Amino acid sequence: MKILVIGGGGREHALVWRLRRSTGVEKIWCAPGNGGIANAAECIPINISSLIEMVNIVERLHPDLTVIGPELPLVLGLADELRSRGFAVVGPGKEAARLEGSKVYAKEFLARHAIPTAKMYGVFEDVTAARAALDRVGWPLVIKADGLCAGKGVLVTSSRAEAEEFIERAMVRGEFGEAGRRILLEEGLAGQELSYIVLTDGKRVIPMAPARDYKRAFDGGLGPNTGGMGAYSDDNLLPAELEERINRDVVQPTISGLAADGLDYRGFLYFGLMITADGPKVLEYNCRLGDPETQAIVLRMDFDLAEFLMAAAMGDLRSRTAKWKSAASCYVVLAAGGYPEKPRIGAEILGLDRIRESEGLVVFHSGTLRENDKYYVCGGRILGVGGSGVSVREARRLCYDNISNIASAGCRFRRDIGVAPEAVLSATAESRRD
Ligand code: AMP
Ligand code: GLY
Repeated sequence: MKILVIGGGGREHALVWRLRRSTGVEKIWCAPGNGGIANAAECIPINISSLIEMVNIVERLHPDLTVIGPELPLVLGLADELRSRGFAVVGPGKEAARLEGSKVYAKEFLARHAIPTAKMYGVFEDVTAARAALDRVGWPLVIKADGLCAGKGVLVTSSRAEAEEFIERAMVRGEFGEAGRRILLEEGLAGQELSYIVLTDGKRVIPMAPARDYKRAFDGGLGPNTGGMGAYSDDNLLPAELEERINRDVVQPTISGLAADGLDYRGFLYFGLMITADGPKVLEYNCRLGDPETQAIVLRMDFDLAEFLMAAAMGDLRSRTAKWKSAASCYVVLAAGGYPEKPRIGAEILGLDRIRESEGLVVFHSGTLRENDKYYVCGGRILGVGGSGVSVREARRLCYDNISNIASAGCRFRRDIGVAPEAVLSATAESRRD
């Protein structure tokens, strides 16, 4: 099988790494890829915001399977373009990708199919109306830019001043561009977050190992939302009873809702859940795998990923069950100084040669560029170190023992990835002593 992976982040590096372990795979391209992926696949330069360019590449390479990693090509409609030309594709079409591309569309879908989610206070395109609505909402309040913002268009706050400032940034200063011209206000939910991702052929679902993402920039869940600063995967995140409830109340109604809306969904579907005292509620849908959850999840895969992906693309996942290693995994992101607001790029990355990679210890690149055997920072999330172990504790230790070997001017990482929330405060105290 010849496979093309579209994208160039840590998630795509992890996919390429895992696909190389599939028996039937003879060739992998990655477009555009990055400095690290170049060691594992043939990278093809491409602009993932240009539909034409992406279609042309696929026409030229003629892969047996195209796996679309990031949301942007999906929202632009790449999957439809390729399917209409007869290519096998992992990723939903343009209409279904609106579940991620528009938070208002997702809320309407959730309401239409009676799927539990946070109560919505309203949708606003007018800044005066949005400000006035702050008199009528409950706190903590969540404000979301409608469109794609790479995980940065959400504010959870109990401060009215902060809420006003965010509305100003989105609707007046246009900091999120078109994506922030329309915002929605919703109830802030309390509970534990869980990233629950399934692979679906539109009818059946194959759940991925459960993962938890750390979205805030700093230890202890402080600072602004980012694309994700690390993740871990462990079956203890998901007792059987909870999984049944998620399946019954969230996953199945979503799959039948998509079918009822006439959408043929083939690909990964990500449920960003809050496990509240009233049960699981959907915070967001993503129409793809999570980043950095994927980097932790691939370390636990014990099945032929390429074969499963092809089956999903063909609309026939029947009779497959994914096998997972019972061990745990952890993944810690190294971010550029200034991330997420203004990442400083360009510095050389040192120390990569000190890491002895294996099946249980990996480095996945996100924003790196390779020139003459040297690596340079070219994105906010630079790379990450992933490890597996018999427990999360062991997996996280492996990550931290190794990530401290890597250095680049101004870079930083969270110290509390893989620490259970109740233990976060003590880990934060530990990191202050470091
Ligand atoms: P989203 O892009 O919608 O997932 O939002 C990003 C992050 O904001 C989530 O992972 C949560 O940490 C937080 N968030 C979003 N919606 C809510 C909500 N209704 N209540 C509490 N936190 C939320
Ligand atoms: N880690 C969250 C996301 O991929 O959106």
